[in-house]
Amino acid sequence: MLNKTATGAAARREKPKMRPARPYFSSGPCAKPPGWIPDWIDQRILGRSHRSGLGKERLQLCIDLMREVLQLPDTHRIGIVPASDTGAFEMAMWSMLGARPVTCLAWESFGEGWVTDAVKQLRLDPNVLRADYGQLPELDQVDWSNDVLFTWNGTTSGVRVPNGDWIAADREGLSFADATSAVLAYDLPWDRIDVATFSWQKVLGGEGAHGVLILGPRAVERLESYTPDRPLPKVFRLTKAGKLNEGIFKGETINTPSMLAVEDAIAVLQWAKRVGGLKGLMARTEANAAALDRIVAERHWLRHLAQSPEIRSRTSVCLTLEGADPKKMAKLLEAEEVAYDIAAYRDAPPGLRIWCGATVETADIETLGPWLDWAWEQCQ
Ligand SMILES: Cc1ncc(COP(=O)(O)O)c(C=O)c1O
Repeated sequence: MLNKTATGAAARREKPKMRPARPYFSSGPCAKPPGWIPDWIDQRILGRSHRSGLGKERLQLCIDLMREVLQLPDTHRIGIVPASDTGAFEMAMWSMLGARPVTCLAWESFGEGWVTDAVKQLRLDPNVLRADYGQLPELDQVDWSNDVLFTWNGTTSGVRVPNGDWIAADREGLSFADATSAVLAYDLPWDRIDVATFSWQKVLGGEGAHGVLILGPRAVERLESYTPDRPLPKVFRLTKAGKLNEGIFKGETINTPSMLAVEDAIAVLQWAKRVGGLKGLMARTEANAAALDRIVAERHWLRHLAQSPEIRSRTSVCLTLEGADPKKMAKLLEAEEVAYDIAAYRDAPPGLRIWCGATVETADIETLGPWLDWAWEQCQ
């Protein structure tokens, strides 16, 4: 929609006057919380042992804060493990799978990655239920006598499971949820989740490097009753002499963690408490996603990749567009320092992906709208 000049010639739209105060819309690592500065980080432990009294205290505090902010019930253990969300999920797969048949659900790149590992590395023969980008597999087809692997929020397609109702309450298998871009954005039904993993770098705006592993009672039972017939690297080992290594869930990490990342996690969790804890984080995410929904609704050329609203992500919102090259648009907006890292994931259909998690400010999403118009016009 080009403006007409006095002579009737088409003129390019002018750059909007306002810019987002913080152009951080990446889907991971995500924006730091508003107002975050390095001084938020308590530096007393830096240069000291994580096994010192102070080190253990800080790791335990991080675990306690996570439990509090997540509203995680006492039935579930929570521990800090190596290698970000990938490390946590792989650890669970390698330690627990093989005891019974496996079903993998895949509807985007990360879920597909777990299928590859199950097939090619663990040499399991999983039943795979797939769907195209923008859709979910038939959740009512899942056989809960199997262990079931899935991503709660598919970060690369912007499709999430709508809730946990499809997870059988009386399941024989275990549910394994890669929940890295879901945790702290949605209300998760912990009684339906046996294993969940996430990383601080998503909704909390913390750092990567460490993963968080959450185990329900049935996962612990599996670990203590089943020893897989495969070598397990030390960083994956969750048991000692057939018993759960409880230390992992009390801050006795398997190997040396980055205390800088841990301290940052403590700082961002304290911010999470200041904005109202789980409820506050969910409300911020919801407001951001609603602001983006309005932007999409007002533009004929812009659409959600996930057609159906109930499976549409409220964190990693994926959009498709007509009439312009989204990669070029993303580059242009980055060059203008208006929006960083909003091109669709490399394996996903071309489009834009705009993070709406709690660390993003709604006003910044709103300010982005006119810039999308500007960039769209520039890239036609
Ligand atoms: C659904 C999902 N799983 C796994 C990962 C990998 O996470 P990490 O790099 O923290 O290991 C990501 C990262 O974006 C993700 O979105």
